[in-house]
Amino acid sequence: MQGSANLNIMIKAARRAGRSLVKDFREVENLQTSMKAAGDFVSKADIAAEEILKEELLEARPNYGWLGEETGTIEGKDPTRRWIVDPLDGTTNFLHGLPHWAISIALEHKGEIVAGLVFDAAKDEMFYAEKGSGAWLNDTQRLRVSNRSRLIESVFATGLPFAAKKTLPATLKDLGNLLPVCAGVRRFGSAALDLAYVAAGRYDGYWERELNLHDIAAGYLIAKEAGALVEGVREGQDPLESGSILCANNDIFNSFAKALRNA
Ligand code: IPD
Ligand code: CA
Ligand code: CA
Repeated sequence: MQGSANLNIMIKAARRAGRSLVKDFREVENLQTSMKAAGDFVSKADIAAEEILKEELLEARPNYGWLGEETGTIEGKDPTRRWIVDPLDGTTNFLHGLPHWAISIALEHKGEIVAGLVFDAAKDEMFYAEKGSGAWLNDTQRLRVSNRSRLIESVFATGLPFAAKKTLPATLKDLGNLLPVCAGVRRFGSAALDLAYVAAGRYDGYWERELNLHDIAAGYLIAKEAGALVEGVREGQDPLESGSILCANNDIFNSFAKALRNA
């Protein structure tokens, strides 16, 4: 797809940060003997990736604002536009040497996400979308959600709460309701990629609670542009405001939402 100048800036930034993360990912395996060393190394890799993204994105667009997971917020001279960045989504996977993590970059304009990119650098899969121009994988492949319409044939993704998250009872309840009526539920550990995989038709749907804007802003647009319906887990909730997200292809959305909401 012929992208805008902003999309090209996002792609260039993601490729550079991706090279840095891939290099560090190879190193992580050598550090597995010491949990502390591996943890410190990964948090350095994470921050270094965000610094690269910040440098690339703000150098190219100095007036835009910034919201980055690791480096916080910067008010831009242009108050209508800001970059929303998670330099490493899937940190636990990265730390454990599991090749399933991504860089997530979104561009917001007047409160709306207008461009989104999710880059799985380990597999060299770049998912992106611009509002109104569809969703794409690696320039050549137009993304489309799956067309499964029966729950029993559908595979869904979610996130399982860990440590201090308060959503364990709700998630266990969801699983109890969904598992008996669907083909399977996966927990791969990257919300950004979960949304990109719905866009690619690999998952039929995805839901998760208690996420941050930087986890889902890019994937939200990619899923929508690929034809997914995206709402909050509760009806009427805004997913980007609440961090609670439910998305699926059009055909399965109602029965999927019903299974989770009416329980
Ligand atoms: C996490 C991942 C994970 C989700 C967590 C997020 P991080 O982001 O997206 O899939 O379940 O809630 O915090 O910490 O790896 O950037
Ligand atoms: Ca994240
Ligand atoms: Ca992160």
